[in-house]
Amino acid sequence: MPRAAFVTIGTYVPDRVVTNAELTRYMDTSDEWIVQRTGIQERHWVEPGLGTSEMAFRASKRALDQAGWKAEDLDAIVFATLSTDHMFPGDGCFLNAKLGIPGVPALDIRNQCSGFLYGLSVVDAWIRAGVYRKVLLVGSETHSTGLDVSTRGRDVTVIFGDGAAAALLEATDDPDRGVLAVELHADGRHAKDLWADAPGSIHSPRITKEMVESEAIFPHMEGQKVFKHAIVRMPEVVRSVLAKAGLQTSDIKVLVPHQANLRIAETVQRSLGLRDDQVFNNIQKYGNTTAASIPLALSEAIPARGVKRGDLVALAAFGAGFTWGAALARW
Ligand SMILES: CC(C)(COP(=O)(O)OP(=O)(O)OC[C@H]1O[C@@H](n2cnc3c(N)ncnc32)[C@H](O)[C@@H]1OP(=O)(O)O)[C@@H](O)C(=O)NCCC(=O)NCCS
Repeated sequence: MPRAAFVTIGTYVPDRVVTNAELTRYMDTSDEWIVQRTGIQERHWVEPGLGTSEMAFRASKRALDQAGWKAEDLDAIVFATLSTDHMFPGDGCFLNAKLGIPGVPALDIRNQCSGFLYGLSVVDAWIRAGVYRKVLLVGSETHSTGLDVSTRGRDVTVIFGDGAAAALLEATDDPDRGVLAVELHADGRHAKDLWADAPGSIHSPRITKEMVESEAIFPHMEGQKVFKHAIVRMPEVVRSVLAKAGLQTSDIKVLVPHQANLRIAETVQRSLGLRDDQVFNNIQKYGNTTAASIPLALSEAIPARGVKRGDLVALAAFGAGFTWGAALARW
């Protein structure tokens, strides 16, 4: 049975770098507070008009060029984001049009920070079943246009950044390559612990002047609850997926945790007993880019940690929903 193997990852982040110092001009915060609580030093924000599907397109073009593939080689697109350009259709179709591949199916995934792993699970299942052989899996996020850039929203706003990363996956029969296992979870009892209420179809009309003037259009986060769940769920699911594959933490060449918060990633590392060289973080430069965070970090982890063909890569996610998961792949 074939498995899904990573071929390459292309990335794109907007040119505009927003430092912690810049944020202090808009809200009552400090570089010290942000670095101490989150590890973030800067993030990228889009200029007006640059959206989620366009960043995904730019990342995808890079991935295709790196692999020497043409867009026409793709059998399917899987697009993970919580920040679509429009309410519908999903960004998969906008990306399909930008890539110029009418007819190629485009699946939209909206599982927030776990979106890339939910997408990877689908891609792996398609490839194992022989449905498709070459798939583009993209995570792309435009947070900056939806953040409350005032003191009222500072707990959320300092954390999130914009960016995109696109992975190419192909069918392989090589037993030393490819996705070994993916495990996914959700607990909707916590759906409103990290969410944005509006615009939404439960409201009629979906958006009002009052919503725009209130907090309803901005993300709301129970930060401490998110923290407490993330540091339990991520190590738990990594251990579980390792057990399923008959592997141990010592077999991991590099773990790429979702870049939610450096303190969360460091706690996960301690809990799993991993050495510093077995974990990769880049939240310092990008903030939390949600669906883009794991592939954006993975693309840098491969050269930074000297990952070679056949090395074991572990991925772990936790985010809104709550949703979480982990994956193991041989590079
Ligand atoms: C958000 C988070 C950094 C807040 O840290 P915390 O230690 O829990 O801080 P608290 O929420 O208790 O707030 C402490 C104080 O800092 C203040 N504060 C919040 N954001 C601030 C900011 N950006 N700058 C300065 N002060 C801030 C609060 O208002 C509060 O002030 P008070 O004591 O006067 O009421 C932390 O909860 C966290 O990392 N949670 C996980 C978030 C996450 O990873 N989200 C993404 C999931 S995918």
